[in-house]
Amino acid sequence: MGLLCNILLFLLLCTCVAESADPLGDFCNEDNEIGKGISANIDTLLTKLVSNIASTGYVATSYGRDPNQVYGLAQCRGDVAKEDCSTCIQDAAKQIRQRCPNEADARIWYDYCFLRYNTKNFIGEIDTSYGIFYYNVNNVTDPVNFIKQLEDLTGRIRAQAVEPKNQGLGKGESKLSPLVSLYALVQCTRDISQIDCAQCLAIAVETFTTICSERKGCRVLYSSCYVRYELYPFFFPINSSNGTAEDNQIVVVHP
Ligand SMILES: *[C@@H]1O[C@H](CO)[C@@H](O)[C@H](O)[C@H]1NC(C)=O
Ligand SMILES: *[C@@H]1O[C@H](CO)[C@@H](O)[C@H](O)[C@H]1NC(C)=O
Ligand SMILES: *[C@@H]1O[C@H](CO)[C@@H](O)[C@H](O)[C@H]1NC(C)=O
Repeated sequence: MGLLCNILLFLLLCTCVAESADPLGDFCNEDNEIGKGISANIDTLLTKLVSNIASTGYVATSYGRDPNQVYGLAQCRGDVAKEDCSTCIQDAAKQIRQRCPNEADARIWYDYCFLRYNTKNFIGEIDTSYGIFYYNVNNVTDPVNFIKQLEDLTGRIRAQAVEPKNQGLGKGESKLSPLVSLYALVQCTRDISQIDCAQCLAIAVETFTTICSERKGCRVLYSSCYVRYELYPFFFPINSSNGTAEDNQIVVVHP
């Protein structure tokens, strides 16, 4: 009986722990502390974001009245399926409150989605003030060819991202050799203009050069855009089993 209880308890704990996935990063702005009357509005706002995300993978809205009004944005990467998108935003809504319990300006990043809220209206404003960078510790073997291919590919997909029909998403691949391909994806948040999207992506791709130069993989996450490249397929639809993911990642956070 005692053993059974322990097993049940163990299973229960496992389920709870596994319930919401770890994000890639978060930002809790300590300059904007939660005031009275705001916390309940954040909860309602998060409920709105979670319940409205499925239809288009993007929600920008607000809740409450000045001075307790809270603005929120939730968005999934454009290639991510509805179900994965909903799960991601649900996780984000849970985790952001746990991670930023005392801040009224909070942001959380996952590979599949991004969520943020603030008492100041940020919707429509480009923001590259805070970035999270992940890179693979290993370097490519043929940097000259690699850098040229990466420039060509990111140039192509940045042009895709600013076409209105693509809603801020660009993705593609390029053969480095008969056996090795480079995969890259860029995504802007859908509240910003095409010009701001282009600017955010330019800043993010510039970071490839300064932080990731010859690395086998790199991710740059800002509040207005996300860019990533890898030597394995990581975006949808994932065609084949070409290449495998390397989890050799280092994270650098720049305030
Ligand atoms: C990759 O290159 C960087 C910069 O040249 C170097 O510091 C680093 O040690 C290299 N990584 C490996 C695994 O060799
Ligand atoms: C992926 O699949 C599509 C359609 O099946 C095909 O046209 C394309 O060449 C494939 N790409 C790769 C890298 O295998
Ligand atoms: C993936 O692998 C298949 C065969 O295994 C090959 O035909 C195809 O070109 C590869 N795709 C890329 C993008 O490397």
